Amino acid sequence: MLLRPAELPFPFSPREVYGRGGPLVLEIGFGDGRFLVELARARPDWNLLGAEVAPASVSRALRRLRREGVRQARLYRGDARFLLRNLVPPQGLERVYVNFPDPWPKQKHQQRRLLRVPFLELLSTRLAADGRLLFTTDHEEYFHFALAEARASGLFAVRSAPPPPETLRTKYARKWLDQSKPIFHAEFVKTAESPREFPPVRRYPVPHALMQGELPPAAAFEKLVETGPAANVVLLEAWQGREGLVVLARVEEEDLAQEVLLEARPSSKGVYVGLRANCSPLVTAGVKQAVGLLVRWLQERGLQTVQRSY
Ligand SMILES: C[S@@+](CC[C@H](N)C(=O)[O-])C[C@H]1O[C@@H](n2cnc3c(N)ncnc32)[C@H](O)[C@@H]1O
Repeated sequence: MLLRPAELPFPFSPREVYGRGGPLVLEIGFGDGRFLVELARARPDWNLLGAEVAPASVSRALRRLRREGVRQARLYRGDARFLLRNLVPPQGLERVYVNFPDPWPKQKHQQRRLLRVPFLELLSTRLAADGRLLFTTDHEEYFHFALAEARASGLFAVRSAPPPPETLRTKYARKWLDQSKPIFHAEFVKTAESPREFPPVRRYPVPHALMQGELPPAAAFEKLVETGPAANVVLLEAWQGREGLVVLARVEEEDLAQEVLLEARPSSKGVYVGLRANCSPLVTAGVKQAVGLLVRWLQERGLQTVQRSY
């Protein structure tokens, strides 16, 4: 039920992923997943896709969907923009729901709002002709902001309407209704497609290096941060594994954040430095950078690089 981008091509094939055809419908920021359960019950013919950045919410939603016997949903843990850009087929979506997106009310945080022109441009390339986004919020100022962005994009016709009853039963809808807050709703109907290209992230072969020398103890390791043009990489911690050093790295790129396990261990050809067995992230420029950072740290501790593949 959980989509792993490293195991899927761009674009993914809904027929293969769901084992059937049918309209593909996405919910962005599904929180505890109860709206997906409602949609699944109301529209058994829809193939449901959900994106959510908060790992704890994803786990909760997975449990809920399993408990409720929902079989037509697939979840992505991460930024919806990555999912759209890297997995969803061009013109593949019939509908997108955005229920109570984070409003980022402070002026200085408005750049973080989802419903802005760049996102709407990307979305226009993944929505089918006259596909639509259904937007529900309690935040009046964000509501008007998002409508203005949709109009400014030149890609959507905006229709205001009362919120459909199912969007009023999400966790946040209940919270705001309990406080007697008004709820706002609009549909953005695709009228044109952005000419901009939104290519998927470049994937690379698995990076590794061979080094010679004595591995330092894990205790010698301290957190390392490297800010590059394409990625921010943090080597967070290291520990002694059964075969050598294991290092936990966090790799942040445009709309993708990955936790990656690296290792440096003796092998018949020297010290192998690369991704840990069973760790199969999407191999991006940032993942290569993380391996490179570990190699440099080892070089500074006296090891020599005899071969590298990145
Ligand atoms: C205010 S909550 C609303 C949750 C749910 N839709 C509801 O109505 O109860 C907003 C949710 O959007 C998620 N989120 C924010 N930005 C996101 C993004 N770019 N992609 C996917 N999920 C996102 C947050 O983690 C959070 O769970």
